[in-house]
Amino acid sequence: MNDFHHVPKVWLDFMDRDHEAASEITNRLMAEVDQASPDKNKITAGLEQLLAHCQEHFASEEHEMQNHNFPPYPIHKTEHERVLVEMESALMSWRETNDIPQLKHYLFDVLSTWFVQHTATMDLATASFIVNSGGQSHD
Ligand SMILES: [Fe+2]
Ligand SMILES: [Fe+2]
Repeated sequence: MNDFHHVPKVWLDFMDRDHEAASEITNRLMAEVDQASPDKNKITAGLEQLLAHCQEHFASEEHEMQNHNFPPYPIHKTEHERVLVEMESALMSWRETNDIPQLKHYLFDVLSTWFVQHTATMDLATASFIVNSGGQSHD
């Protein structure tokens, strides 16, 4: 299982703030599913919040990539779309089954691993490109 607390910094304010928010929501969810008797309503609300956050967070990155004519934009956007579909289907099967081990697998093995990797690769490359093309850097 992945030990997930914070995603790596990319040194671009708006992205670092979004990643911090995503970490907080994900960490709270992981702590809840790890309880002896997890609160199912809290989990559902947390998953809905995570999905809504990711839709906005990914959309802001895509908007900035387009503003700065980032050449690998379609690759980065396709990856966001894939992860949103995966997240929607995790939420749907949680709603249908309330299956804790299945949700644990998604959060600990799939999502948190992806988040760290995606941030350290595609997001970092995107942030560096934006900073180098005159975007606002981290102070
Ligand atoms: Fe991101
Ligand atoms: Fe991204």
